Amino acid sequence: MPDLVFIQPDGSEQGFEAPEGISAMQAATGFGVPGIVADCGGQAICATCHVYVDPAWAARLPAPAADELAMLDCTAAERRPTSRLACQIRLDAGLQGLVLHVPEFQQ
Ligand code: FES
Repeated sequence: MPDLVFIQPDGSEQGFEAPEGISAMQAATGFGVPGIVADCGGQAICATCHVYVDPAWAARLPAPAADELAMLDCTAAERRPTSRLACQIRLDAGLQGLVLHVPEFQQ
């Protein structure tokens, strides 16, 4: 089972083994996942790493910090209850198999 799975709006999936300690954004950009732009490089100031956490995983992630919540108001695609910034999701053993959905657009 891959450590991390991204699902595109067309339903296509990419799964990877990702090292613990990096962010989901770093994994996505490292593996060339389309649709994760990450303009600010992980500083939580651009919202172009917006993802929708799969509903099966949403309650298992730590709650977003205040700065992430504020930046989620700036997403280009619709903000949903499961919206998160991939740069603020730190991969650890408890998130093995995490599934993230990529929005239709980031800018
Ligand atoms: Fe800019 Fe995540 S990379 S907010």
